Amino acid sequence: MRLFGRAVLATALLFSATGAAADPLAPTGRWSAYERAAARTPPMGWNSWNAFTSDIDEEKVMASARILVDAGLAAKGYRYVNIDDGWWLKRRKSDGRMLVRAERFPSAATPNGDTSFRPLTDRLHAMGLKAGIYSDIGRNSCGQVFTSTFPNQPEGDIDEREVGLHGHVDQDIRLYFEEWGFDLIKVDGCGVRGLGPADPRVKAGLYRALGPLVDADSLGRTDVATTRGLYEAVGQALDRSNPDGDFVYSLCLWGAADVRAWGKNVGAMSRTSEDISPTWSRMLHNLDSVSRRPLYAHPGSWNDPDMLYVGKGDFDERHLIEARSHFALWAMVNAPLIIGYDLRTAAPALLDVLGAKQIIAVNQDPAGNQAVLAFDSADVSIWVKTLADGDKAVAILNRTAAPAEAVLTADHLKFLPTAEVELADLWTGEASRFQGEQKLQLAPHQTLVYRAHGARKLADGLFLSEQPGRVNPAVDGVVTPQADPLIHRAILPWRGTRGLGEPPRYGGWGGAQADRTPYDQELAVAGQRFDTGLGVLANSRLEVRNAGFQRFTAKVGIDDSAIGGGQAVTFLIYGDGKLMGQSRPMKFGEAPQALDVEIGGVKLIELVARASKPTPVPQPVTWGEAALRR
Ligand code: GAL
Repeated sequence: MRLFGRAVLATALLFSATGAAADPLAPTGRWSAYERAAARTPPMGWNSWNAFTSDIDEEKVMASARILVDAGLAAKGYRYVNIDDGWWLKRRKSDGRMLVRAERFPSAATPNGDTSFRPLTDRLHAMGLKAGIYSDIGRNSCGQVFTSTFPNQPEGDIDEREVGLHGHVDQDIRLYFEEWGFDLIKVDGCGVRGLGPADPRVKAGLYRALGPLVDADSLGRTDVATTRGLYEAVGQALDRSNPDGDFVYSLCLWGAADVRAWGKNVGAMSRTSEDISPTWSRMLHNLDSVSRRPLYAHPGSWNDPDMLYVGKGDFDERHLIEARSHFALWAMVNAPLIIGYDLRTAAPALLDVLGAKQIIAVNQDPAGNQAVLAFDSADVSIWVKTLADGDKAVAILNRTAAPAEAVLTADHLKFLPTAEVELADLWTGEASRFQGEQKLQLAPHQTLVYRAHGARKLADGLFLSEQPGRVNPAVDGVVTPQADPLIHRAILPWRGTRGLGEPPRYGGWGGAQADRTPYDQELAVAGQRFDTGLGVLANSRLEVRNAGFQRFTAKVGIDDSAIGGGQAVTFLIYGDGKLMGQSRPMKFGEAPQALDVEIGGVKLIELVARASKPTPVPQPVTWGEAALRR
C-alpha cells in the first residue's frame, strides 16, 4: 500500500471551487486552528482507563466523581469524568443503536431495553461535573484489537460487535450528545490500525477488515489524508449535534498518521504518543512527544501526552518527587490534566499533588502558551512558559537517577541579566532572587518549578517565541512527514527489550519551532545567532494573533543550517489578508534583513516565507527576534 502521496498532495494544494489549485501560502486573514467554546484552557478531570482498564462499572465511576467533589478537586477545575473502554455491550441489530452494558451500569437499564446513559450524565451534571464517553474511529474497539483478554468486551455476532463510529458517525454522535448528554468524546484509532485483511481474526471471520489506514511504525505506509478525513467527519457531526458548542473532541491517534501536525486543526486535544505507563522512562517519552510542539497548541486545541499516572508505580505515594515532577511537567506543557487513578484509595499526599493550586494555575493560565524548551539534554531540561501577566513559569527537570546541578540564567527567561530576577517556588512558596544566573541543585528525578518575575529583555512588546499560543503554523512547509528522533527512548513495557527497541515514529520532524530551527539547531543567519525567534521551513505560512500592537519586527534570512545553494526566499508580512511589508529575495549566506512593519489595528498577521521554486527539501528559514511591538 502506497497511499502516502495522496496525503502530501492534499496538504500541499487546496483546490478552489473552479478546480484551479489554490495557493496554500496565500493569506486568508483567518485563524485556522481548531477552537470551540470549551477547552479554552486544557481540560481537567478523571478517566477510568489508567485506574481500571476496561474493568469499569457505575460504582467505580460515581465514587471517583464523588471524590473529585468531596476532596475539593472539582472546585480546582477537575470537572470531566470520562468513561473509557468497557462501557459498551453491543450495537443493536435492528437499528444500529448502541447499547450500554447495563449489568455494569445499572442506571442505564430502561424498561424497553434501549439503555440510556442519561441518568448517569444527569447525576454528574447535578454535581457540577461534565461527562465524557469513548469510541473508536473504526468499526471495532481497542479492546477487541489489542487487549481482548480484558473484561467487558463487546458481545454478539460480527455486526453487533462493531461498536466503533465507522458507518454510524451521525447516529452515534447524536445518541451520545443529544440524547445522553455527554460533554466530551475520546475517539481512539485502533479500528483503522489493527484489522487489515491479513489479520488472523479477520481471516477467521471474527471481524470485517478495515484498512489498515494507520501503520504506527511507518508513516509511508499510513494513509494520512483518509485517516484525517475520518476524524474531520466526526468533528463535523459534533458541531451539528452540539448547537451550544460546549463539547470537547479528544483525538487518540497516539502520535501516528502525522497527527502531531494536524491534530490542532481537528480537535480540542490530540494524543502525541503511545500510551503512558507508570514508569519514569515512559513518562519522559510521552513528555518529549510534546516538548518541541509548543507552536502546535493553542487555546481550544492542546497537545495531549496522555493521562496522568500520578498515584501509580513510579509516581505512587512512596515516590512523591517523581509524582510532583510528572504533574508539574504536564502543567507546564499545557497537557489536559486528566487523573488516571483509583481516587478511592488515594493517599492525602497524592491528593495534595493533584490539588496543588499554584501548579494548576500554570496549566490553566489564560494566555495558553505551552512551555518552550530553553535548554535540553539527556540529563537536564529547562522549560519556560510565558504567563498572561508577563511573568514566567520555569521548570528545571533532572531526568536522571543521580543528583544534578543546573544553571538557570536570565537569558533562559528572556529577562535582562543586569536586573534582579525574583523566584517563587511553586511547591513550597519559598522566595529567592538572583541576577544573571543561579545554580540549582536537583535531587534525582526532581523538577524545580518557579514563577519568575524580572525585567523583560523586550520592554516594549512580546517576542513571538514567548507566545506560542498566538502563533499557528497554518502551513509549516513540511513536504514529507518524518519521524521525530528527539524523543526519549524508553522500553515499551509490553515489548520489553525484545527486538531492536522503539525507533523514532511520531511525525513532526522539521515542523515549526520556537527559538530553534525546524531540525533543532540554534537559529542563525550568516553567522548571526539568535537566541529568540521562530524557525520554520520555506514555503510556510504562520498565523499570528495581534493584541493591540503597532509594529512587527524581525531579522529574517535563510538559516545557516540549510544546505547551501538553494532557492531564494522572500519573507512577506500580511495584515488581515493585505500585504504590509516584505523582504528582498534572500539567498543562503546573505546577512539577515531587518523588517519593521506597521500592523496597528490589524487582528491577524500572516508571516509567509516563499521560495522562488518549491523544492523537495525545503530550506530552514529564520524569523530572528520576531516580535510584536508597541
Ligand atoms: C488505547 C488508548 C488508551 C485507552 C485504550 C482503551 O488505544 O490509547 O488511552 O483508551 O486504548 O482500550
